[in-house]
Amino acid sequence: MNEKEQMDLGRRKFCLDLGRMTGGLALLSAAPWLKACTDEKVTATQGETARIGMVGTGSRGRYHIHNLLALPHARVTALCDIYPPNLEAAQALCPGARAYTDYRRLLDDPEVDGVVISTPLGLHADMTLAALSAGKHVFCEKAMALTMEQCKEVYDAYQAGDRALYYCMQRMYDPKYIEGVQRIKDGLIGDVVGMRCHWFRNADWRRPVPSPELERLINWRLYQEFSGGLMTELATHQLEVCNWVAGRLPSEAVGMGDIVYWKDGREVYDSVNVTYRFSDGRKIAYESLISNKYNGMEDQILGKGGTVDLTKGVYYLEEDTEISGMRRLMDSIRQGVFAAVPTAGPSWRPEYRNEYVPHPLVQGSVSVNGGQSMVAADHDGSDLVMSAFCISCISGEKAENVVEEAYGSTLLCLLGNQAMAEGRTVRFPEEYKIPYMKF
Ligand SMILES: NC(=O)c1ccc[n+]([C@@H]2O[C@H](COP(=O)([O-])OP(=O)(O)OC[C@H]3O[C@@H](n4cnc5c(N)ncnc54)[C@H](O)[C@@H]3O)[C@@H](O)[C@H]2O)c1
Repeated sequence: MNEKEQMDLGRRKFCLDLGRMTGGLALLSAAPWLKACTDEKVTATQGETARIGMVGTGSRGRYHIHNLLALPHARVTALCDIYPPNLEAAQALCPGARAYTDYRRLLDDPEVDGVVISTPLGLHADMTLAALSAGKHVFCEKAMALTMEQCKEVYDAYQAGDRALYYCMQRMYDPKYIEGVQRIKDGLIGDVVGMRCHWFRNADWRRPVPSPELERLINWRLYQEFSGGLMTELATHQLEVCNWVAGRLPSEAVGMGDIVYWKDGREVYDSVNVTYRFSDGRKIAYESLISNKYNGMEDQILGKGGTVDLTKGVYYLEEDTEISGMRRLMDSIRQGVFAAVPTAGPSWRPEYRNEYVPHPLVQGSVSVNGGQSMVAADHDGSDLVMSAFCISCISGEKAENVVEEAYGSTLLCLLGNQAMAEGRTVRFPEEYKIPYMKF
């Protein structure tokens, strides 16, 4: 297959994916940000190319380059990084692109329509503000910014201007999440009574450093100057889903955060438990730990009639249990044993969640790489967010609610960090409420 045929195939596949998601008006109401990249919008931009400048060409930046290289409506024209090995690795992928070491020079480049920011969190706000004021469309990695104040500054600048701004909250473009959220809103599991999200890994987050002065540049995730730790790195995706499902935000948070295992000089917690409470009493239980991976990653929406695990793309109904013959036998033996113990009654019978029958939300592979990394996930929506961004670079259309969703989830992460640091219940601050939000 020649290059042209490959590009045509890429475009068809892209249209198919978006077509499947945007096929029904119902899905557009669950995920209104898709309105900026419907089949018609894709067709209308056919033959045109978004010229993209990459700021930050580390691990995630190069992952985005791979996605961009597969898109027929995108071309990487400029690259910027301050760490030469990462800049060189990106140049090897995009030999024709101009290389910069100062992102402001890249922003001056007239052959850049849109900027992809994949730098440490502490730099997101300044870079986004500068790119918007240089007249570029912006795709920024999550989270939105390191402080609430910065988030508000970016939100206000975006509202005041006409440039598109995307955040890589890929669950918002992931077919199983979109379908799942729509079906929850349609009543699949009855009233939503709570949410439980967790992300467990067993790895220290450390990267090898060739010389000590590069420690903070390379291991930025471990230092508060650049990172909000597990909350902004991981929870931000999951809290966005909770807000999306609920159509509102929790009004207060309480939590505990500690460095339990990786006592290696890092400044961010390696263990967090945060409970968020909505004004009607429903709660989000959030937990993340990076020294045990048994529980993996789950985004569970709990309903009176069932549970949806959006991460796995499956749902379970409360009354829909199926116990195998062998299991029945084991249960009756176990109950016999318990019955012989004077203090044990039927209430001792363990309640297993694996008795529930999983029903798929969408057909096809829903592999999420065992929760280890979103980067290598099979098809997690990141490529579609990038495609949608490139369409916006061509059409000039902003995507509905993307910034608002990123703002809400980032604020909740920062609220969680504040609750853990101060050891008290903290309320969502009035000054950071925006019209989009309901509480
Ligand atoms: N959406 C997701 O699922 C997902 C997954 C992984 C990472 N991320 C996000 O992507 C971002 C980058 O993460 P990463 O793992 O690629 O980090 P990384 O350290 O691998 O890459 C960051 C790059 O930014 C460069 N950089 C630092 N300061 C710079 C400056 N002033 N100008 C230009 N370049 C500069 C670094 O040299 C490095 O190459 C983070 O915000 C992270 O949270 C998102």
